[in-house]
Amino acid sequence: KIRELGLKGAEKMAKVFGKKKVVVVGDGRVGSSAVFALFQQSWINEVGVIDVVLPGHKDENGEWVKGFNAMHNVEGDALDMNDGASFLNGNGRVVEGCDYSICDDADAVVITSGAPQKPGQTRLELLGANASIVAGVCKQLKSHLNDHCVVIVVSNPCDVLAWVAYKTLGIDSKRVIGSGCVLDSSRLKQEIGDDLGIDYRSVNATIIGEHGDSEVAAYSAASIGTTPIRQYYEEYKGISGAELDAHLEKIHYNVWHSAYDVINLKRATNYAIALSITRICKAILTDEKVILPVSVLCDKHVLGGKAEGVYLSVPSILGANGVEAIVAPEYSKEDTEAVLKSAETLRENCAKVQF
Ligand code: 2OP
Repeated sequence: KIRELGLKGAEKMAKVFGKKKVVVVGDGRVGSSAVFALFQQSWINEVGVIDVVLPGHKDENGEWVKGFNAMHNVEGDALDMNDGASFLNGNGRVVEGCDYSICDDADAVVITSGAPQKPGQTRLELLGANASIVAGVCKQLKSHLNDHCVVIVVSNPCDVLAWVAYKTLGIDSKRVIGSGCVLDSSRLKQEIGDDLGIDYRSVNATIIGEHGDSEVAAYSAASIGTTPIRQYYEEYKGISGAELDAHLEKIHYNVWHSAYDVINLKRATNYAIALSITRICKAILTDEKVILPVSVLCDKHVLGGKAEGVYLSVPSILGANGVEAIVAPEYSKEDTEAVLKSAETLRENCAKVQF
């Protein structure tokens, strides 16, 4: 039934536009939300989803046990979404619940497997539990990776786990990224846009460093339109000096605390991260060559070479080949010190992680 539903539409679209496919590994709250968000995009015609079959989910004949906790039933999710395919400009989208062989023709693979943060828990505190899960996914994925597929690690702590994936997969680091601070930067743009009454698209502001507690709001490289942000606040809001420092710090506090607030209310974040995954996949599947603050492996040209060998978020050009270039600007002394401190936190965690 899964193969029949939507396949004809997807095949038709693939013939016209060429197949564009993303596979999501992990069908939990983040993974299933990402599949559903991707499934609705016009620039994609196949979404795959993979998850482990937990003990008790299938009987001795390999049939799904009826009525169990359907959180991880990829076939049920696929069937459910395909039932809605005709609402999506009729091209059909095939969402398959299957094994790693569905990655063979994928343009991107998104890894969401692992435990989510508990209320008050930091992302780095998940490292012990999630490193072996992500490494295990990569060991199975490795033999199903084609020569252009880009791997996006979302599982937290995504920077260190992107490094684990890079080490396990053994492919060019340009094709292994973390979702990083794309979501945080979106939160920052929204906070500033709402504060100023400006469309988010005119707020050029980025969170860099760890996707986590040591992240940095790079205000020294932020602007409203083409006006540097501090100048804008002084000229149009009459705020400057120490008062402006405190105001911008409060905005940053709201940004890095947002995930904790959501997790305190509903035990996970999933919708915003799913939309940020969709944004990242669009850059890859449509070869946008757009600048996004994804988590990348820093080389000697980034931040004066002081973050070399660490995965962290800095502005990077993203396209069909993954990271086309890392384009971190010259930050202020304060922002640079803060992001290098974040880099050291991540380097320490890379040094101790077991996988
Ligand atoms: C987020 O920032 C929890 O990393 C996830 O929403």
